[in-house]
Amino acid sequence: MDKKVTVIGAGNVGATAAQRLAEKELCDVVLIDIVEGIPQGKSLDLTEAAPIEKHDAHLRGSNGYDESADSDIVIITAGIPRKPGMSRDDLISTNAGIMKYVTQEVASRSPEAVLIIVSNPLDAMCHVAYEASKFPKNRVIGMAGVLDSARFRAFIAMELDVSVESTHAFVLGGHGDTMVPLPRYSTVAGIPITELMPQARIDALVDRTANGGAEIVGLLKTGSAYYAPASAAVEMAESILKDKKKILPCAAYLEGEYGFNDLFIGVPVKLGKNGIEDIIEIELTEAEKAALKKSADAVQGLKDDLKKLA
Ligand code: NAI
Ligand code: 2OP
Repeated sequence: MDKKVTVIGAGNVGATAAQRLAEKELCDVVLIDIVEGIPQGKSLDLTEAAPIEKHDAHLRGSNGYDESADSDIVIITAGIPRKPGMSRDDLISTNAGIMKYVTQEVASRSPEAVLIIVSNPLDAMCHVAYEASKFPKNRVIGMAGVLDSARFRAFIAMELDVSVESTHAFVLGGHGDTMVPLPRYSTVAGIPITELMPQARIDALVDRTANGGAEIVGLLKTGSAYYAPASAAVEMAESILKDKKKILPCAAYLEGEYGFNDLFIGVPVKLGKNGIEDIIEIELTEAEKAALKKSADAVQGLKDDLKKLA
């Protein structure tokens, strides 16, 4: 393939993302993990599935970073996931160290790459990667809003018994309990859900979305969600690799947009070959603005925690 994506962390999210990238024949894939044998074994296993899945993407696994050189995109999933009773924020000290190290390793070998950050706490990890890579802000992007919006869409489709393909949703803000699902901008065939279901049902779906990660952790008990998170990261990668210019909610570095400065939070962006090509500022009601401010304050708190760790 003429495109190359490196996935750091060959655990649940990373390996599933590698599988989806290869099976969609978007690119060759390098899978890197600190544990010996895991990235090599998973890459070989996926390679052996290729004749049946009918793709010619090449997959390689490694414990070093040289194989990642000249990647178009690097997806970073390295770190520890949540277990029951843990919030995403409990992961900060361990994952900040891992994020700093792996970002430096990949940034020096792929200076033109777009970084898609997945590790939690997501918005704080974007700050670590932004500082460690020294990349321009358009090439450091966090994955959260696509996942949170997909969850909201799935719940809307279940509630109204319609195809998920007819749904659209936007979830903005930080990737935490304060995230901001926007019912007014969430539609079925273009019709806002505020016209399709009573407020009490909307409130229930909003609440389920905001706690969607915890719901899966509670069921799995040994880790957190990975199928939908991998799909979300790959949708972002596809838009960049194919220069599709999709408008997707992603964590972006804001410099004044929505009234925030020097902060990564989830907002609608245009994703193309240059990474974030535009930040779309949509009209918000006073209540929506207040919810976004509360979410931004939570991210700022995590950012302050990072400073204390440094
Ligand atoms: P996992 O435990 O299955 O995989 C993590 C992998 O990272 C492991 O294979 C581990 O060996 C590897 N790793 C640890 N330190 C490393 C290092 N220094 N260098 C290279 N690899 C290293 O966890 P999972 O489920 O894949 O989740 C990964 C991360 O993504 C977690 O922090 C999780 O909270 C986060 N996540 C974020 C989501 C989002 O919406 N942004 C959604 C789902 C997960
Ligand atoms: C999720 O939302 C754990 O952030 C992860 O599933």
